[in-house]
Formats: sequence, structure tokens, C-alpha cells
Amino acid sequence: MPELEGKRVLITAGPTQEPIDPVRYIGNRSTGKMGIAIAEAAAQQGALVTLVCGPSSVESSDSIKRINVKTAQEMFDAVMEIESEKDVLILSAAVADYRPKIVADTKIKKKDNGLMIELESTPDILATLGTRKKAGQVLVGFALETDNELENAIDKLNRKNCDLLVLNSLQNEGAGFGHDTNRVSILDRHNNISNFELKSKAEVAKDILQAITDYK
Ligand code: C5P
Repeated sequence: MPELEGKRVLITAGPTQEPIDPVRYIGNRSTGKMGIAIAEAAAQQGALVTLVCGPSSVESSDSIKRINVKTAQEMFDAVMEIESEKDVLILSAAVADYRPKIVADTKIKKKDNGLMIELESTPDILATLGTRKKAGQVLVGFALETDNELENAIDKLNRKNCDLLVLNSLQNEGAGFGHDTNRVSILDRHNNISNFELKSKAEVAKDILQAITDYK
């Protein structure tokens, strides 16, 4: 892909929140900073950017079309509605893998003997896009691993039919959730791996976009 100017780019970012009852949810520590930095950098390069974003206090500029969602299902539905018209799909959201099977209508009362909540899997947005990828579409996944990082990342890239996979390591100080810096490796389908230094998320965003434009 020669350059991003005029390309239609879809980015997911942030966490999802899976309700337990009207006041509680299952969530995670993602802030949306990395995905929103990618959206800003892509817009600056002239891409037409749509951001599908879970609950995040990070703002995005007016040049980005932002669709706010809360749950994995809402994110799935928003993405599937528009994905076929996109050239580049960057899935950086930290989507909850499980959600409560039954959502209580009223606040669950506190009892003395604990609480069991049955969970079911959420739909996998990235894997679904991998099964319906069109010729010419570039699909980029993210992985956050705590062990066997590279092995798990290569497996994820292949299993979910990604073109590129950005590996974040929680073992790097200053990288990952909440930080303004990140340290990533970018893997591609042809077994190339590029390792990057710890940088600001704005700089990491540029590296990721460069890997997309260089990808053949
Ligand atoms: O399997 P795992 O959750 O580690 O995969 C991470 C990648 O898959 C990320 O790109 C994330 O945005 C995406 N994902 C998704 N839908 C899910 C779970 C993960 O799009 N339900």
C-alpha cells in the first residue's frame, strides 16, 4: 500500500464494558490512548479515519469520525456495518473476551456467601474480519501477552488471518495500558519481525502506519 492519503481506515480503540447489572460491569485497564494516537496520525497523513471507540476519556480531533460504543457486541455491530468499504482495519481495542451470560435488571444484592456469575464468550471482531477479508484490505491485529510472547503472537497472526500484528509487552516498563509510551514489535505474514524502542505512543503510531504502507 503506497501511502495512506485518501485511504479509508477503520480503527478500534479502548476497552469494552460488559454489564453485570445496571451499575456494575466487567472491564479492563485500556485507556484508548494507543488506538486514538493511530487515528490521529492516520488523519494527519490524509486518511479518512473512522474510530470505533469503547469508553475512553481521551478526546479525538474533528477530522476523525468517532463512533462511541460500550460493549463488545456494540463494537462488533458498528465494525461489521462499515468494514467492507475500508482499505485498512486496525484492531487495537482491548475487547473483553467474556461477558455475563445474564444481565440482571436490578442491582444485585450483597449476600454473605459470595456470588457466581456465569460468563460467555463475546464475538471476536478481529477473527471475524479475518474470515471475510477482501483482496487488497490490510488487517492489523494487536496482542498483549504476559508469557511466550512471540510464539503466541505468531499463532494469533495466523489464526486470525491478520496481515500485520503489533505485539505489546506488559513486561516492558513504561509500555502498555495507561502509559504515554509504548514498546512494540511488528510481525507480518511473511515472518518478518521488527523490534522498536520505547517511544511515545504518537511515535509508535507512525511506526505502525509505516509498516502498513510498506506491507506488500
Ligand atoms: O485473542 P486476543 O484477545 O488476545 O486478540 C487480540 C486482538 O484481537 C486485538 O487486535 C483485539 O482488538 C482483537 N479482538 C477483537 N474482538 C475480541 C477479542 C479481541 O477484535 N472479542
